[in-house]
Amino acid sequence: MSEVDDTNIGEEYHQATKYARESLPCNQLDWEHRPEAYKSYGGERPETRLPKPDLHGGWPLWDAIHFRRSVRKYSSEALSLADVSQLLWASQGVTTTFGPYLFRAAPSAGALYPIETYLLVNRVDGLAAGLYHYNIPQHSLVLLSSGELGGEMSSAALEQKMVERSAVTFIWTAMVERCTWKYGERAFRYIYMDAGHIAENLNLAAVSLDLGSCTIGAFFDDEVNRILGIDGVEETVVYMATVGKLVE
Ligand SMILES: Cc1cc2nc3c(=O)[nH]c(=O)nc-3n(C[C@H](O)[C@H](O)[C@H](O)COP(=O)(O)O)c2cc1C
Repeated sequence: MSEVDDTNIGEEYHQATKYARESLPCNQLDWEHRPEAYKSYGGERPETRLPKPDLHGGWPLWDAIHFRRSVRKYSSEALSLADVSQLLWASQGVTTTFGPYLFRAAPSAGALYPIETYLLVNRVDGLAAGLYHYNIPQHSLVLLSSGELGGEMSSAALEQKMVERSAVTFIWTAMVERCTWKYGERAFRYIYMDAGHIAENLNLAAVSLDLGSCTIGAFFDDEVNRILGIDGVEETVVYMATVGKLVE
């Protein structure tokens, strides 16, 4: 548990980060120290290029909205690499570029895109079980550690067994400074809004592909952070979502 006195911390945060006409901050942006736009794990790690996303087919948007439900039970079938590609693209993929800027499928305050995506793979055809990081510009998955991590991650998610039983679990982290650089403390609001947009894109894409998904906000933050190998301060988990094939 945090050592911060948290009796009123949520309310205090919201009060302290309100915009008001008389005190609107006008931050000078420090372009020289602009944080990196996306994280990349270099080195000799195995990297799997994903198939190009298919912009046709799938259930139409209105059906996807209508039939979306949180699904917590999945069949034991594996997802295809094409499914994984489509889900990553729909949630965090690049949809257009403007000079060096990569605009994504989900909106982001100031186009700063503070959210990173990790994928826990339990069952995907063509991918070994393990933990991956989504390389945004390459639309590829970089293997961080291989092996069956579903049980450990499930335990970190308050023992929610769907994490172990799903085909994949998306784990979204925030690179905090990427957003505080421009918005100061108000950035934390935007980080969670960004994560919500990303997650709903994933949910709707999952329905469109005849898959089930469930977002997860309940987890032991620092247990998840430890599995991901991140410090929980500069980068910290904010949201997760399981995806799998529907039970017939
Ligand atoms: C921010 C957020 C956190 C959630 N966390 C969990 C969770 O930890 N475990 C879970 O089973 N469902 C979780 N859910 C799913 C909700 O329980 C679900 O959306 C709600 O019951 C409404 O049902 P529906 O999604 O089928 O419309 C979460 C949903 C949201 C939006």
